Amino acid sequence: VQRVVVFGASGYSGLELVRRLAGHPRLRVAHASSNREAGRAVSELVVEADGSLSFEPHDAVLDAVVDGDIVCLATPADTSADLAPKLLDRGARVVDLSGAFRIPDPEVFAEWYGFEHPCPERIAEAAYGLPELLPVPPSARLVANPGCYATASILAIAPLLSAGLVRDGAPIVVDGKSGTTGAGKKGSEALIFSEVGENLRPYRLTRHQHTPEIERALEMVSGRPVTVGFTAHLVPMRRGILVSAYAPAAGDVTDARLEEAYREAYRGSSNVRFSTTPPETGRVQWTNHTEVHARIDPRIDTILAFAAIDNLVKGAAGQAIQNVEALLGAERA
Ligand SMILES: NC(=O)c1ccc[n+]([C@@H]2O[C@H](COP(=O)([O-])OP(=O)(O)OC[C@H]3O[C@@H](n4cnc5c(N)ncnc54)[C@H](OP(=O)(O)O)[C@@H]3O)[C@@H](O)[C@H]2O)c1
Repeated sequence: VQRVVVFGASGYSGLELVRRLAGHPRLRVAHASSNREAGRAVSELVVEADGSLSFEPHDAVLDAVVDGDIVCLATPADTSADLAPKLLDRGARVVDLSGAFRIPDPEVFAEWYGFEHPCPERIAEAAYGLPELLPVPPSARLVANPGCYATASILAIAPLLSAGLVRDGAPIVVDGKSGTTGAGKKGSEALIFSEVGENLRPYRLTRHQHTPEIERALEMVSGRPVTVGFTAHLVPMRRGILVSAYAPAAGDVTDARLEEAYREAYRGSSNVRFSTTPPETGRVQWTNHTEVHARIDPRIDTILAFAAIDNLVKGAAGQAIQNVEALLGAERA
């Protein structure tokens, strides 16, 4: 059984990681870090967790990491950028749930994340891991787990580009909507119930940090430059992301061709499914599944493409576990 160490275990993605790792046949949580919850039994927050597991301070967990461990970082990007090199130097392999290692160009990183990368020389070591489209090799030592909006956007759009159904060079407009757990556990006035309940608002217009990540991943999948305009919205629900993408069609695109493109792209994947009706967040909540769907709107010659995920599962912890399993690939029976 492989030891897994979780940093940021008290946060929404960290708790989901601990929950999904409990009972995993080949993975066991050896340490769960939190300063805020240090000393408390993890099972007080995650009923499925091993009763002997307690939250430990971040520094103590860093000291406890040994060669051969797999470490999941469910921490803010600046913390991940600081921790990852120390963990790699100890011989651990790292799956980072933050954005710290998703953007290989340090200038682009600084522009979208708002701070200089503390170890730009380590970014090149990272493999971007979206299992259904861009799987990591078992030899990877540092894996950048995709962002939540990015996961849904890439899974919705990639099959269209691979099948040549989008007009060459035309920007793709992406409208993303997320529940409030997407903003993490730390409080702020904008996130209290009185501000979020019965309300709907776009945020971080023209500068959401998943924009360059979506473009880069789609370029890696399709081999062509891609321009995406992305707008995020905060929805008064706890979990879930729905992405609606609008892509100018190349030539005569039919609904049948669209369905064929998705079925082809996700053949062999049990996690991503083309649904015959438009995706709904309620159907994928608490699961690692993605529902994708697309239709042509012939009046405006535009493809409407959709994906629904649970932001904490396929958008974070569930996908991170897929990446951990990919690292164990060679050792699998
Ligand atoms: N929420 C999502 O839907 C989602 C989806 C995909 C990716 N992500 C990414 O996953 C990461 C965690 O997000 P989250 O939403 O789960 O955050 P969160 O609920 O705010 O939790 C943050 C966690 O990070 C820990 N932390 C904070 N500062 C730290 C430090 N200096 N050293 C070590 N640990 C520290 C906190 O520990 P304490 O208990 O000590 O405060 C807490 O456990 C972020 O990078 C986020 O962008 C989130």
